[in-house]
Amino acid sequence: MTPTIRQSLFDALNEFDWALPLEEASTLPSYWYYDSNIYEAEKELLLNTWQPIGRIEAIEYPYEYFTVDLLGEPIVALRNQDSEIRVLSNVCRHRGAQILSGCGSTCKLRCQYHGWTYDVDGKLKGTPEFDGVANFSRKDNGLPVLSHEEFFPLLMASLGKPKQSYADICKPLLDTEEWLTARDYDFHERLTYDIKCNWKVAIDNFLDGGYHVNTIHPGLASALDYKKYHSTLYSHSNVQIAPMKDNDDLRKGTAQYWWLFPNMMVNMYDRTMDMNIVIPTGKDTCRLYMDFYFNPDTTEEWRKDSIAYGDKVQLEDTAICEQVYQGLQSRTFNAGRFSVRREATGYQFHQLWAEALATLGSQKE
Ligand code: FES
Ligand SMILES: [Fe+2]
Repeated sequence: MTPTIRQSLFDALNEFDWALPLEEASTLPSYWYYDSNIYEAEKELLLNTWQPIGRIEAIEYPYEYFTVDLLGEPIVALRNQDSEIRVLSNVCRHRGAQILSGCGSTCKLRCQYHGWTYDVDGKLKGTPEFDGVANFSRKDNGLPVLSHEEFFPLLMASLGKPKQSYADICKPLLDTEEWLTARDYDFHERLTYDIKCNWKVAIDNFLDGGYHVNTIHPGLASALDYKKYHSTLYSHSNVQIAPMKDNDDLRKGTAQYWWLFPNMMVNMYDRTMDMNIVIPTGKDTCRLYMDFYFNPDTTEEWRKDSIAYGDKVQLEDTAICEQVYQGLQSRTFNAGRFSVRREATGYQFHQLWAEALATLGSQKE
């Protein structure tokens, strides 16, 4: 982190008091959503938290791999000869070329530029025409190995060493019966939304405790029992519980909307799970992935209708998020207050995020 970014972060943290009780709290200052220095600090922090980089199923057998760009960091995930997962930097130690692209199967990583080779554990093995280079050891020039954790069906990785395991963050979700059922659903389809707002606006929108359901989602509002909608907070996650009125074939029973620190959501409802990931694509834009998983008993047609339902709701959310982002940049708006009845979940995100930024800012280079 450059000294300028560190100073901006330090100044920003002085303007947000995350120790206040919800009744007295305000949101993050609005410039946290559009300031370039804050964005750079946040990107750094996101790279140091657990991030979903792909589906484990994509690397089922030894030597299978997939590459991914995580906030600008080229990464490759693969299985070695013993079927152990490795997540490596995909940047060649010679000149920085990306070694592998796309996905496939390989027993060694051969750089396309000058042909250096690495084994599937990231060890540098081959350096053509490199004899006579002083003080150069292959041992010190392997590919950096990233931390990873399996959160079935997803593979999580981090450029840092997160203090908390992802399993710890997710424990309250993992302990639910609904998760034990949903984690075995079939993966069906990924929808991708590019949204013109800072990534935190999309998370805030998810975390307002149903406050916007009646106004922004009239279709969904008619299916759920708003009076019984409630939330529970855990240390690094929260869940919004929305009992349905059972008057709609696509949304029955009780929906659970989980948020997992910092940018993943798991929604479980009748025969469906959708996992949402919000990734910044710039300070003013983000990409939201919505991965749909279905109970194997559901028909193709039912799945199609269920996805269309989710898509409609998301388009309603996208429109309001983009509008909110413009409003946050108004000279007349600095911060808002929280509904005590509804928005404890949103404040929890702001508290945990500010606290994590403070920890990052206080770390020595
Ligand atoms: S950049 Fe990879 S071998 Fe030169
Ligand atoms: Fe919404």
